[in-house]
Amino acid sequence: MSRTILVIGATGVVSSQLIETLRASKGDRRLRALVRSEQKAAALLASGVDVKIADLDEPESLPLAFEGVDDLWLLTPPGPRAPENNMNAIWAARNAGVKRVVRMSAIGAAHDAPTRNGRLHALSDQELQASGLRWTILRPHFFMQNLLGFAAGIAADGNFYLNTAHGRLGMVDTRDVAAVAAAILLDDSKRHDGQIYTPTGPQSLDLTEVAEGLARVLDKPVRFVSVPDEAVRAGSIQAGLTPWLAGMMVEYGRAYAANWGNFTTTHVKDTTGRDPRRLADFAREQWPREAPR
Ligand SMILES: NC(=O)c1ccc[n+]([C@@H]2O[C@H](COP(=O)([O-])OP(=O)(O)OC[C@H]3O[C@@H](n4cnc5c(N)ncnc54)[C@H](OP(=O)(O)O)[C@@H]3O)[C@@H](O)[C@H]2O)c1
Repeated sequence: MSRTILVIGATGVVSSQLIETLRASKGDRRLRALVRSEQKAAALLASGVDVKIADLDEPESLPLAFEGVDDLWLLTPPGPRAPENNMNAIWAARNAGVKRVVRMSAIGAAHDAPTRNGRLHALSDQELQASGLRWTILRPHFFMQNLLGFAAGIAADGNFYLNTAHGRLGMVDTRDVAAVAAAILLDDSKRHDGQIYTPTGPQSLDLTEVAEGLARVLDKPVRFVSVPDEAVRAGSIQAGLTPWLAGMMVEYGRAYAANWGNFTTTHVKDTTGRDPRRLADFAREQWPREAPR
């Protein structure tokens, strides 16, 4: 009988690309998406995906969405409630008889990680590892798609600002993260059980090199300006982030400035058989042609 995959975070960056990849695959799978509201479910419903309305903040809403699920893609949004969201999902999975969980964690997740997000992900990774369910964990590097947050500023004056100084990052295209997740979810063998993968891109770049790469594709000057931590905090809050998320941004920038992210892995190729996309591929294929407002 065909297996049912439940995708959490289906309106978000990685999970929406995962749904696209799973739908394009020839695998014999039933696909279900967990979405928080009817309104947000509309596009998915129109494309024929089985959608269940539920919320990881509300454990009572979960059993119906998890019923009959074999494989779970477990993604939680960053924030102080992430471990609670993860716990609610794992509890619902256990009760529903889910067989395998593929969990989205983050680069360097550990109890002594330099970011609050990495330390919280370590708690959730550990809970899954102790759950008795089959598991695989992805700890991707910095997403190239994060750079899209700078697109409006770059369109305006060519500049973008972070506190990463000369630190290098093996940043990854989220489409490759989704491809890794799909390859695992579609694999009926147990070879990914108990594995932790860190998908990265093919190059470790500092943000001045990123600016040069964007400039080549956009055919206009682009300049990275390294700024102090407090400028990133203030700018993030001004852009609408909560103080918690602004603090997380500062911590990542500081860690990257110390070259914490200066590495690449072969995990995209190992799991998908394909080389990861380069920054230039991302910029050519995903950078907005019109200036975002
Ligand atoms: N950004 C990076 O560089 C990076 C790198 C490595 C790992 N990560 C990890 O990646 C994850 C985020 O992935 P992403 O960027 O693809 O996510 P995203 O685009 O921010 O989307 C988050 C998704 O979670 C859903 N969601 C939020 N709260 C929910 C709740 N209470 N119940 C159910 N669904 C809820 C959102 O739904 P709505 O549409 O309803 O809001 C949305 O679909 C985080 O765990 C982060 O730590 C990020």
